Amino acid sequence: MLLLILSTLFLTTIYSSNAASDDVITFDVRLLDGGDITYSFNRSEYGDCIYTSHHQQVTCMVKRKYKSVVDKWKYNPLQLKYLSVNCMEQTYYANNRHACICVNGSDAANPGKSKQHDNLHYCHLTTLPEGMFAKLSQLTLLDLSSNAIKEVQEDTFAGLFSLKYLDISHNPIGSIAVKFLCDLHMIEVLKLKNISMSSKTFHKRILYCSSSLNQLKFIDLSDNHIESIPNQLFDSIPNVQTLILRNNWINFISVTAFFGASNLKYLDLSKNHLPAIQNSFCKFMYQVRYINISSNRLTHLDMDDMSNCETMTVFDTSMNMIHEKKEVYHNDQTYKFSTLQETV
Ligand SMILES: *[C@@H]1O[C@H](CO)[C@@H](O)[C@H](O)[C@H]1NC(C)=O
Ligand SMILES: *[C@@H]1O[C@H](CO)[C@@H](O)[C@H](O)[C@H]1NC(C)=O
Ligand SMILES: *[C@@H]1O[C@H](CO)[C@@H](O)[C@H](O)[C@H]1NC(C)=O
Ligand SMILES: *[C@@H]1O[C@H](CO)[C@@H](O)[C@H](O)[C@H]1NC(C)=O
Repeated sequence: MLLLILSTLFLTTIYSSNAASDDVITFDVRLLDGGDITYSFNRSEYGDCIYTSHHQQVTCMVKRKYKSVVDKWKYNPLQLKYLSVNCMEQTYYANNRHACICVNGSDAANPGKSKQHDNLHYCHLTTLPEGMFAKLSQLTLLDLSSNAIKEVQEDTFAGLFSLKYLDISHNPIGSIAVKFLCDLHMIEVLKLKNISMSSKTFHKRILYCSSSLNQLKFIDLSDNHIESIPNQLFDSIPNVQTLILRNNWINFISVTAFFGASNLKYLDLSKNHLPAIQNSFCKFMYQVRYINISSNRLTHLDMDDMSNCETMTVFDTSMNMIHEKKEVYHNDQTYKFSTLQETV
């Protein structure tokens, strides 16, 4: 009880500086130019629970009534606009157990007897049964970051036709099926940080769908084990503006990897294993403004290889081992971009 009172006081203090923020939940996407994209929702008591009909289990960040969550998913699924469940981030309500609070079907209270309580237990979100979100066609945002999800199947996200934001970062996902994104016609932001993605999973078909995902503009693949960027990656995601591949194992990039990336503006390749930059690096990146190859293994840099990067304004080459730098200044051309160089 004391804990509950304290928690109420605590939350009140946090939110008192902004009266409206209590009712609104906001998800921020930081862009590399300092700007951001924001998704805001009226806070809902259903926003922090997941129902899996397969196991008849309700998994919540805080204590909720089993029946009201199940009824929402069954009878009013179109009212669910956002879902954000991050069991491993749970530190307060779950008593520092890094777990969610769950009720299994058979443990749910008998609705006829008002005094009977749901039988709660601590649990983790480990599986996403196929089609579990199929009725949630109005869902705009799904944040399942920081859980223990091990697999994404082709139909895991089926039916999420309005989804704009998907975050499954910080999960030990060993396997992702191709076409897992293909129902997400409206998807704008895709966060796949730290999901144990290797080159075996990150192949040229992983983001491919028969009809293009034209709204997708932001992909974050930081903190994975990707070794190369596959050719044809951009085939059905032609409007991606920001691609973050920070802290991977990338050691080679062919020029054709960026074929079709004609709207790419921000490319973060920092903290990788790149030994060199290929000739005509920006050939297919007609609009690129920002390239970060800081903390790689470059030993030389021939600025002539960057001659296609006419639109680039920021080029960070710091924290490499560049001992030979060849700059070519053509009579009528001076490089516009500011090169952030190694400070030895
Ligand atoms: C929140 O609710 C108010 C009043 O019901 C409504 O006018 C507003 O559009 C809602 N905002 C969002 C982000 O859904
Ligand atoms: C709840 O259901 C899940 C999935 O069927 C099962 O693994 C778990 O053991 C159950 N927990 C309890 C406390 O009954
Ligand atoms: C990566 O995700 C795992 C869970 O899969 C988590 O334990 C770990 O803290 C995360 N690492 C970072 C750097 O966020
Ligand atoms: C480039 O990446 C490094 C490491 O991720 C980061 O510290 C640095 O601020 C980035 N540079 C720019 C110009 O954003």
